[in-house]
Amino acid sequence: MKNTNPAPLRAAIVGTGGISRIHGRRIQDLGSQVVAVCGRRLSSADELAADLGIQATNEAGTWTAGIRSYDDLGRMLDETRPDVLHVCSPHGFHAEHALEAIKRGINVVCEKPLATTVVDAQRLVDASMAAGVHAAVCLVQRSYPMTAELRSLVGSGKLGRLQAIRGTFLSWDANHDNWGWGFDPAIAGTSYATADLGVHWLDLVEHVTGSRIREVEARFSTIRPVRIKDGAEVAVESEDYVRLFFELADGTPGSAVFSGVCAGEPNGCAIEVDGMDGGLHWRADQPNALKHRRSDASLVTITRDPERLSPEAGRLAFNPAGHAEGFGDAFRNLIGDVYAAIGGEERNYPTFEDGLRLATLVEAIQQSASTRKAVTID
Ligand SMILES: NC(=O)c1ccc[n+]([C@@H]2O[C@H](COP(=O)([O-])OP(=O)(O)OC[C@H]3O[C@@H](n4cnc5c(N)ncnc54)[C@H](O)[C@@H]3O)[C@@H](O)[C@H]2O)c1
Repeated sequence: MKNTNPAPLRAAIVGTGGISRIHGRRIQDLGSQVVAVCGRRLSSADELAADLGIQATNEAGTWTAGIRSYDDLGRMLDETRPDVLHVCSPHGFHAEHALEAIKRGINVVCEKPLATTVVDAQRLVDASMAAGVHAAVCLVQRSYPMTAELRSLVGSGKLGRLQAIRGTFLSWDANHDNWGWGFDPAIAGTSYATADLGVHWLDLVEHVTGSRIREVEARFSTIRPVRIKDGAEVAVESEDYVRLFFELADGTPGSAVFSGVCAGEPNGCAIEVDGMDGGLHWRADQPNALKHRRSDASLVTITRDPERLSPEAGRLAFNPAGHAEGFGDAFRNLIGDVYAAIGGEERNYPTFEDGLRLATLVEAIQQSASTRKAVTID
């Protein structure tokens, strides 16, 4: 079944940084409308509205059709009554901003990590269930066609019994001496590399294997412990480098590295799944290919061809084979599934329960790193 655009919705966005623009464009690709945007400052909301809107110049100056800008989230929601709020603010505001929508009965698409504590993530799950709204979290690695294919092949038993999982989430985002909000516990929580980067990879492991991580053992490093904020040195406590060992519920061992200080690596999300009969390897910066190592020593590249993939992967593949798709397309798939579900269709998407699961894993990994002991997760 091919994906078609869901019935159009009226969306609003809070947070005006890089990811808000990806959300805005994808909402518009889906035929839905961004009706309002909210920033801390009206000027940043105006800029986002201008980026996403149709601009025209009349005698009164330049204006942006259709998109209203705000610096007060409650007022934006009350005045524009959107069908869905996209929460694109920094991590520590996700809970407060999502709850503003939920208490008004408005559906939510929230950026990852869902919350900076398990307590807040649980509060969000409880509130969204009580309000009966759709509540999604942007664990977008699931929405690439080739990770859906990876999940399908693992589930079909193609690799035989699973033997090991390996991978990385590497980034150069913090490979400099500047301070950023990601290192402020009041804005980002107490974890950087695990909560900001690792959550994508941890979610992918549980999604593609269909199994849960039951034990973690981690070591943290802060490779750049001093950063410069407004010309002054600031001590940073959050980890920027993580070494992780884990076990799935069936005992399958796994290992991973998460790093925000990896020079020359803008986005190294990679996963390898080994079974008795072969292995599969996917990386986010080559998202249209899945490498299949086979026990007869052959290596096959499975390419993103909508006609040849499993039904779920084929559904997520939009362009014909050979016409590459990437991050923006995965976002369109995720938002499209949420919007279709809001419109009454049967669709799966990463939920607030999945966000809570990851908050639980992040806290367990932090606990393991601080005690230098393995931690079991229920
Ligand atoms: N799913 C993904 O792949 C993905 C990718 C990138 C970022 N993200 C997430 O998106 C969120 C935003 O990240 P970004 O890269 O856009 O960050 P950014 O630094 O580019 O932008 C953050 C924005 O939030 C604004 N802001 C700060 N406090 C605010 C408040 N109280 N109310 C409203 N706005 C406020 C800032 O002014 C800034 O415009 C983060 O939680 C991040 O983890 C997710």
